[in-house]
Amino acid sequence: MVKVAPSILSADFVRLGEDIRSIESADLLHFDVMDGVFVPNLSFGLPVIKCVRAFTDLPLDVHLMITRPLGLVEKFIDKGADIVTFHLEADDPDRILEALRRVKARGKKAGLSVKPATPVAAVEPYAELLDNLLIMSVEPGFGGQSFMPEALGKIEEARRLVDRLGTGCEVEVDGGINRRTARLCEDAGATVLVAGSDVFKAPDRAEEIRNLRGN
Ligand code: DX5
Ligand code: ZN
Repeated sequence: MVKVAPSILSADFVRLGEDIRSIESADLLHFDVMDGVFVPNLSFGLPVIKCVRAFTDLPLDVHLMITRPLGLVEKFIDKGADIVTFHLEADDPDRILEALRRVKARGKKAGLSVKPATPVAAVEPYAELLDNLLIMSVEPGFGGQSFMPEALGKIEEARRLVDRLGTGCEVEVDGGINRRTARLCEDAGATVLVAGSDVFKAPDRAEEIRNLRGN
């Protein structure tokens, strides 16, 4: 059974507390942090993580769609992040490696994400360090986009890589997840599914989370 990580990008920020309560049956809470440079959108940052940390016991799964994340990864941990995932494309190799090491040194889970055009093989130099490998199934930057079916091959490749390593690294998928694509991703080897619009638009969010999880 896959884990479900609703993305608060699709929440109503005027009623964020209520919205979080409505999805607390999920396995993780996903935060799409965007800087307007790495992706053409600006979302939210440290103050939101800090407030939500004090509000829920759910593990906080932070997805940094920001340029040069090295200087901020520990600040997100200070505010309560349990998993910090950033993009391979966001900095040069030695700073990506250093950022992963800093997350691990703080005892938190470290992840890398790849955009649709970036091959899974590109994360191999860092693979031993990874607790999370996030495959984007949309171009990062916006919720509500359609699932890109070419992501399925990348999920299968990520599954093979993680199985070969035997590290227990999660294979997380983000973008366009609904009841149909959730099963396709699970069959391809995904272990965590991020869903924003599908969950927050559902009349019964808890039921939708159960449907995405497959139970
Ligand atoms: C894209 C975001 C979205 C979001 C999920 O940068 O990362 O993928 O989490 O949005 P939905 O589930 O609406 O595609
Ligand atoms: Zn995300």
